[in-house]
Amino acid sequence: MRKAIRRSLMVVPAAILLSLMLLQFEGVHSRIIDSKPTTYMVGDDSGWDLVIDMQSWTRGKNFHAGDILVFKYDEQFNVAVVNQTGYDSCTVNDGAKVYDSGNTEIQLAFGANYFIDSAADVCAAGMKMFINATAPPPSIY
Ligand SMILES: *[C@@H]1O[C@H](CO)[C@@H](O)[C@H](O)[C@H]1NC(C)=O
Ligand SMILES: *[C@@H]1O[C@H](CO)[C@@H](O)[C@H](O)[C@H]1NC(C)=O
Repeated sequence: MRKAIRRSLMVVPAAILLSLMLLQFEGVHSRIIDSKPTTYMVGDDSGWDLVIDMQSWTRGKNFHAGDILVFKYDEQFNVAVVNQTGYDSCTVNDGAKVYDSGNTEIQLAFGANYFIDSAADVCAAGMKMFINATAPPPSIY
């Protein structure tokens, strides 16, 4: 009887230790998840479109280099990754990439990222977006 009690008392510290180890593992685990790139659906349910002002969709978001933007758009539209000149003037500068598949994933570069629709009038009507991506959050490694 006495022996049995003593043995069960030994089990308790072992169980506490185990749950502490699990808690610690969970903590490490969630930190790894936090430092993974974020995937954003551009425009949320509206997509990359004229129904919303694309720049307003970026407000309040904290974009990091390496984050992924998913552009979903109708076939009359496209996504051009331009430089600042292209963005300011709503033109596709030499060397810019234009995507028109309707479903385009683009990883954010560090610093300035400029996106427009290649049609000047569509761009001017609001299908243009500037994102200044900061350094990715530190990973635990
Ligand atoms: C954008 O690219 C064009 C064509 O290469 C170039 O003439 C222009 O200076 C560039 N603008 C910026 C801000 O880098
Ligand atoms: C991007 O943000 C950095 C840090 O705040 C700033 O120094 C830089 O001028 C910004 N770039 C543009 C193009 O706004």
